Amino acid sequence: MEKSLILLKPDSIQRSLVGTIISKIEQKGIKIVGIRMLQVDENLAKQHYHIHEGKPFFTNLIEFITSSPIIAIVFEAPNCVSQIRSIVGVTDPSEANPGTIRGDFASTIDANLIHASDSIESAEYESKLFFPKNEIFDYQKDIEKWL
Ligand code: CMP
Repeated sequence: MEKSLILLKPDSIQRSLVGTIISKIEQKGIKIVGIRMLQVDENLAKQHYHIHEGKPFFTNLIEFITSSPIIAIVFEAPNCVSQIRSIVGVTDPSEANPGTIRGDFASTIDANLIHASDSIESAEYESKLFFPKNEIFDYQKDIEKWL
């Protein structure tokens, strides 16, 4: 089953939006298979955001994601990557549709609340950065037959 990694960035926790954001994804029927709170250090931040190295916003991005604890979650569902990206909305909150997480709750591209993997390959790479194998769980929920 397809998986995706999301990070609830420091602003999600500081603004007490963790429950609201997780609920929006869970209520769609997407299952949590791994979850942890952590302080990201510079090394992990640079590995996670390596594709943005050299871009003008890179330094700010690393400073922001290391500024306060985050919550990392691995979700699982059919078409998980694209389903979650639809719920999250586009990167720039000023262009994100109402009803999406960024459209409803964020206003700047730096403080856009949440990171979501952009492909199955990224999801695999990113999940391995944040989770040891034994903290991603393979389990069934009875409700799955209704989804
Ligand atoms: P995220 O999905 O975490 O991936 C990279 C982050 O860089 C992005 O969300 C934004 O928060 C941040 N960022 C800042 N400026 C830009 C930009 N011009 N284009 C893309 N991402 C940006």
